[in-house]
Amino acid sequence: MSGQSGGLDITLPENLRTIWRKALRRTRSLRLRLFFVIFFVALIPCVIMRHALTSNYIEQAVSVRKSTVTNQMETIAAHLITYNYLEEGASEVIDAELAQISSLYDGRIIIVDPELTILRDTYDISTGKTMISEEVIRGLTEGTGFSQYDANNGYIEIVTPIKSQPTGSTVTESGEQTGVTVNGVMLTSVSTDTIVATRDRLNTQGIIVEALTIVIVLSLAIFLSGASTEPFRRLAGEMLNVRAGYSNEPIHINNTLETQQICDSFNTVLEREKVLDDSREEFVANVSHELKTPITSMKVLADSLLAQEDAPVEMYREFMGDIAGEIERENRIINDLLTLVRADRQAGTELEVRETDINKLTETVLKRLKPIAVKKDVELIFESVRSVSASVDEVKITQMITNLVENAIKYNKDHGWVRVVLDADHQNFFLSVSDSGVGIPEESLAHIYERFYRVDKSHSREIGGTGLGLALTRSAVIMHHGIIECSSKPGEGTTFTVTIPLIYRKI
Ligand SMILES: Nc1ncnc2c1ncn2[C@@H]1O[C@H](COP(=O)(O)OP(=O)(O)OP(=O)(O)O)[C@@H](O)[C@H]1O
Ligand SMILES: [Mg+2]
Repeated sequence: MSGQSGGLDITLPENLRTIWRKALRRTRSLRLRLFFVIFFVALIPCVIMRHALTSNYIEQAVSVRKSTVTNQMETIAAHLITYNYLEEGASEVIDAELAQISSLYDGRIIIVDPELTILRDTYDISTGKTMISEEVIRGLTEGTGFSQYDANNGYIEIVTPIKSQPTGSTVTESGEQTGVTVNGVMLTSVSTDTIVATRDRLNTQGIIVEALTIVIVLSLAIFLSGASTEPFRRLAGEMLNVRAGYSNEPIHINNTLETQQICDSFNTVLEREKVLDDSREEFVANVSHELKTPITSMKVLADSLLAQEDAPVEMYREFMGDIAGEIERENRIINDLLTLVRADRQAGTELEVRETDINKLTETVLKRLKPIAVKKDVELIFESVRSVSASVDEVKITQMITNLVENAIKYNKDHGWVRVVLDADHQNFFLSVSDSGVGIPEESLAHIYERFYRVDKSHSREIGGTGLGLALTRSAVIMHHGIIECSSKPGEGTTFTVTIPLIYRKI
């Protein structure tokens, strides 16, 4: 394969590209990032400290030495005048002082008179010679001392003027002394080798400490980054097990709050998935069962007809009538199922909402159901508290009222009654359907809206219910953003109350 980049045809071998991709992916690893953060956070202060310590050391030590030696040389300069050294040229005290300082600092002291002749050299090699140097001339003419550090050659040079102060000299307002004569200068060079050596020793020690720190910090970073990402690695492993299907159990990695939170969310999703899976399985089983029942009946009916050699026409008629009834039932179940599936998929988006007279609609439904009620000798009562007009999907609301009233008639006693009450406030309309029927046991109340749920399965068979009516009703109510409630007393009766907004709002 060839990879193109910037117009250049660069052909990388496939395995090199894989390695590169893997390396890129590794940079996103939390462990690697943690490792670098711990490593640098611990190491950087250590390196900075060593650097600051060794780089400032020379500066400070040189400045201390400059001032110490300058002070000592100024004392000697005063002694030179006191002992009249410049005229007499010899003094044991002065010689001892000079020797002491030059040996102490591994240095050299040269005394020069105003004529630039060297009066004294502690190295004893230049005495009597003339010294023409910029520093000496500057010291003689300006009469002030100064010092400089030569880092390349490793020494400090200090120029100290030898000044006499005759009696009667005064100090001016600006602080200058008048009447002071410069009788010569002392040029002192002191070596800084010991300072550099100390710095080097410090540096070496620093490097050793630093190397040790690197090793310790490295191990600490590897350990800490590994330990803090360990729960996440375990989490990924457990999730992989669930994904691969090896395990279906909730996962618990509670070492850190973060992994605990991820586990909790994951377990919730897992639980929901399980519930969905179970209900889907149950639904499929129910559908197959319900669809098979009418087919089995038809098969029994057809078989018994075929078994009779000379079946009379009346028998054919009767059996065929039953078969047609079963086909009708099968058709109804399939239609109900399709309506439910469609409602699930569209989730209320495809309502045909129109301003509808609910009173009229309810009356029409009741008129249509009258024959069934008459057959069961159930009285149908309609109480309209006020006239209600709402923007609803007419077909869905008709289906909803039909299902509720149909149930109230079906699950009623002979000579019972069904009362439908319609009321409204300024926001919602309320439709309640009460009956004097068998009622619903408390433990069933939570399930009646489930598909194919029937309280009394054997009894419902003869009544002819499939258990889809209330599921459809609830779905219609929810589509209108309404509420359906049920209260019931077994043996006494049931009341379903539906609350639906007068104005439909798309959400
Ligand atoms: N008014 C009621 N009184 C007593 N039980 C009821 C009433 N309405 C519903 N039920 C119970 O709730 C179950 C579910 O009702 P649903 O309308 O969903 O199904 P169905 O009437 O059995 O069948 P379908 O409506 O699909 O023909 C019924 O089987 C019945 O046991
Ligand atoms: Mg029903």
